Amino acid sequence: MSPNTEYIATIMNSKEPQIIQLPKIPDRRGNLSFIESGNHIPFDIERCHWIYDVPGGEKRGGHAYRTTEEFIVALSGSFDVVVNDSKEEKTYHLNRSYYGLYIPAMNWRTMENFSTNSLALVLSSTKYDADDYLREFEKFKYLKIE
Ligand code: TYD
Repeated sequence: MSPNTEYIATIMNSKEPQIIQLPKIPDRRGNLSFIESGNHIPFDIERCHWIYDVPGGEKRGGHAYRTTEEFIVALSGSFDVVVNDSKEEKTYHLNRSYYGLYIPAMNWRTMENFSTNSLALVLSSTKYDADDYLREFEKFKYLKIE
């Protein structure tokens, strides 16, 4: 059994947005971190995309997913992820590649304040499906309350 089982079980049960620490293997040749489905993040990875070359002042996201869970890592540089659960908003500053932000489904999220040359890695629990997006905040809020 993995030493992370208890940690992941806690995250699975709470299903709240939260920072998850990743393994870090320090080495004088350079550090190494890794992620295994279900072992370090609480979902099976179906897709991976990354965001880069973001012009100064631009924002990404500005939507929620009906079912998709995500894990976001700042592989390089820094940016903020603003998460709104329909009641309150919290900002997570990501600036290290050995931790990331887990976002369960049905949370409105926006990425902003990208530093120059930042690189955002996004792991998802589903394949791309435009129908899984909620792009109107009022509709998201309505569905969340139901
Ligand atoms: P979107 O998810 O809206 O980007 P962000 O939330 O980072 O602002 O996606 C932007 C465009 O890219 C949109 O036309 C859909 C397309 N896209 C894919 O085709 N596959 C993917 O896996 C993702 C994430 C986006």
